[in-house]
Amino acid sequence: MGIRAGRLERLLPFAPTGFDWSLRKSMRSVGKLKEKYFQQPWNRDVHARFTQQQGAGHGTIGPDPSANGQLPRSLHMSRTNIQPLWVRTTHWINALAVVLMVTSGWQIYDASPVFAGLKFPASMTLGGWLGGALQWHFAFMWLLVANYLVYVVLNIVSRRLWRRLLPIRPGSLCRDLAAALRGKLAHEDPARYNAVQKLAYVVVIVDIAVVILSGLAVWKPVQFPLLRTLMGGYDNARVVHFFAMSVLVAFFVVHVVMVALVPRSLLLMIRGR
Ligand code: HEM
Repeated sequence: MGIRAGRLERLLPFAPTGFDWSLRKSMRSVGKLKEKYFQQPWNRDVHARFTQQQGAGHGTIGPDPSANGQLPRSLHMSRTNIQPLWVRTTHWINALAVVLMVTSGWQIYDASPVFAGLKFPASMTLGGWLGGALQWHFAFMWLLVANYLVYVVLNIVSRRLWRRLLPIRPGSLCRDLAAALRGKLAHEDPARYNAVQKLAYVVVIVDIAVVILSGLAVWKPVQFPLLRTLMGGYDNARVVHFFAMSVLVAFFVVHVVMVALVPRSLLLMIRGR
């Protein structure tokens, strides 16, 4: 009898809309049958042996002395965090900081547009006027930079960067891109990103670095002459800053639509599992 919980069974609570409900129902019944089987007095010793074996096995919590005829914890929904707390915290701080930085940035841009004829509607800007917008921008840039550094450093130190976001293989990318264009890109395993997601996340991580560096060159062009030169001068640094912001906004729009299409990923980003 297959008594280990299957992956699909552990993911039941996250099943997306459109999931085969009859399958969900029958899997629940299988779970209930297992529970009943182990609750029978004549099967308890099987269960005791099973829980002991589980303790020695992988991916389990260990023998459960309080099991008392109940299913071992390993047969219930996995308690493993797919998105660790530090990823969730830095992700949501980053999202907040980006929204405040972009909307206050639009107000600053409107006071001195880079491209003639391109202005942002006042209703989409933050700060009310140039001075107010600068205050928002300068206050939240520290949060954006500090949070970004924490996120990147922890990803490198924990080697999560290589486990979760890299490598991006050209073959997988072409296959996933083609599937995405046909609207058939699967996101069944929440513990893994597909190649398109990986690319989008790596691009946005690099893009935020460009936003920060070009912003520094615009903010302190005299103090950071090398940065200013690398950006092609002060005026060019403003153009680089604008385009990096546009990539960030484009990512934001597509990202939110994708999240809306796979709502269980939002649950993972909120509670971790
Ligand atoms: C501009 C703002 C945002 C940026 C730069 C951003 C960036 C990212 C990045 C880099 C990841 C991958 C994190 C990792 O695994 O290390 C991610 C994942 C995720 N983000 Fe965002 N995000 C933003 C806004 C949002 C918003 C507003 C939402 C909610 C509607 C959201 C929901 C999610 C979810 C649910 C995931 C996990 C996706 C999955 O597991 O498939 N993000 N985001």
